[in-house]
Amino acid sequence: MAQLWGGRFTKQTAQEVYAFNASIRFDQRMAMQDIRGSIAHVKMLGKVGILTAEEAKQIEDGLKGICEDLKNGTLSISEEYEDIHSFVEAVLTQRIGEAGKKLHTGRSRNDQVALDMKLYIRDASTQVDLLLRALLNTLLELCGRHLDTVMPGFTHLQKAQPVTLAHHLGAYTEMFLRDRSRLLDMRKRMNLSPLGAGALAGTTYPLDREYSAALLGFDGATRNSMDSVSDRDYLIEFLSDLSMIMMHLSRFCEEIILWNSNEYRFIELDDAYSTGSSIMPQKKNPDIAELVRGKTGRVYGSLMQLLTTMKGLPLAYNKDMQEDKECAFDAIDTVCDCLKLFEGMLATTQFNQKQMEDSAKKGFTNATDAADYLVRAGVPFRDAHGIVGRLVLTCIERGIALDDLSLEDYRKECDAFGPDIYEAISMKTCVEKRITKGAPGPEAAKEMLRAQRCEMEKLDKMQGFV
Ligand code: ARG
Repeated sequence: MAQLWGGRFTKQTAQEVYAFNASIRFDQRMAMQDIRGSIAHVKMLGKVGILTAEEAKQIEDGLKGICEDLKNGTLSISEEYEDIHSFVEAVLTQRIGEAGKKLHTGRSRNDQVALDMKLYIRDASTQVDLLLRALLNTLLELCGRHLDTVMPGFTHLQKAQPVTLAHHLGAYTEMFLRDRSRLLDMRKRMNLSPLGAGALAGTTYPLDREYSAALLGFDGATRNSMDSVSDRDYLIEFLSDLSMIMMHLSRFCEEIILWNSNEYRFIELDDAYSTGSSIMPQKKNPDIAELVRGKTGRVYGSLMQLLTTMKGLPLAYNKDMQEDKECAFDAIDTVCDCLKLFEGMLATTQFNQKQMEDSAKKGFTNATDAADYLVRAGVPFRDAHGIVGRLVLTCIERGIALDDLSLEDYRKECDAFGPDIYEAISMKTCVEKRITKGAPGPEAAKEMLRAQRCEMEKLDKMQGFV
């Protein structure tokens, strides 16, 4: 047991109590953020004269040394300590002596942990965004290559109208672009430093909170000390953003699983991203897509856990809030793994273009276009709908597509049909005629891609990636 307190106690903490209370097992992940925060704190203490310049320098150098040694492995974190904050402070004091004991002047572990977590989440959001960006680049590249790969678009999982693969994938591009902008949005709101809020009521020292905030890349210091130490809204927002990313990945996975099935055969997953069966030799299973879909529940679970943990907490800090970490770390790891694996799987997937186009033809996805053809010849839409519906029924009986009916068959239903009907309902025409903004037609699709690339550049600039 190694703890920062004990003066007012006459008895040792029971071993199980100590173990139950300690957080170092998981909060050691925030070691770098903890040291970064302490360096800013100590620089500020030096600046305002609470510590002498020498003391501040000595502590800063000591902290930098700890950081180095943790990175190069000459120092390892001892789980003897209650939490990462205690560990860093204890090692500092062992190394530099008396000055080390002054680090915690004008600070509480409550504002310290609030700061560490904010720094950690800020870093994690950048990491997640980089992975989203890589996935989006793969998507944009695929879309550029598949502007004329025709496939059926679905509603109710029933073939509806022809679209292109670029159009279908482009819908996911939109989702992941929104995910990127959501992360930035959360970042903007959370980017205020809680350091200097103390335990809950600020301090009697003349701290320069704006100075330490600026050193840590915050836009300023938080406005209310009680809120500063008890706010986990940003973390809930972040977990909600992560949940949304998982929801998008999961929907995409569901389609990949369907497309990879023997019935669809729209895609062929790369061997490196598939698995086999221990009993059925013919199997090639989409386990990665299924796992990503499955892990979605786990990330939603983290969001629900934290919402529930926070709901009954009176102001200000309560130990319940220590429970924010494991679920957040697990969600971050899960999302990062899923984004990485999913990107690799997508980038190596083969798309069976012929199968996709044949499926669009056989699914009567051009029936609306056949009706529109009649409308152009002066037939009211409602009548046209009925005429084409009867033609579809004939096709189903004969097991053929609308494209395979003879002109005679067409004219038996309606003499407004002419020989140009075949051209009018070809998959190529069906797609090309869809010219409205956001539609799969070539011009509209190119415009969508252009705008999406533009949005990527904007987001990259806001993140400081370029
Ligand atoms: N391990 C604690 C947490 O994660 C650090 C803050 C401790 N503060 C306290 N008053 N015990 O929340």
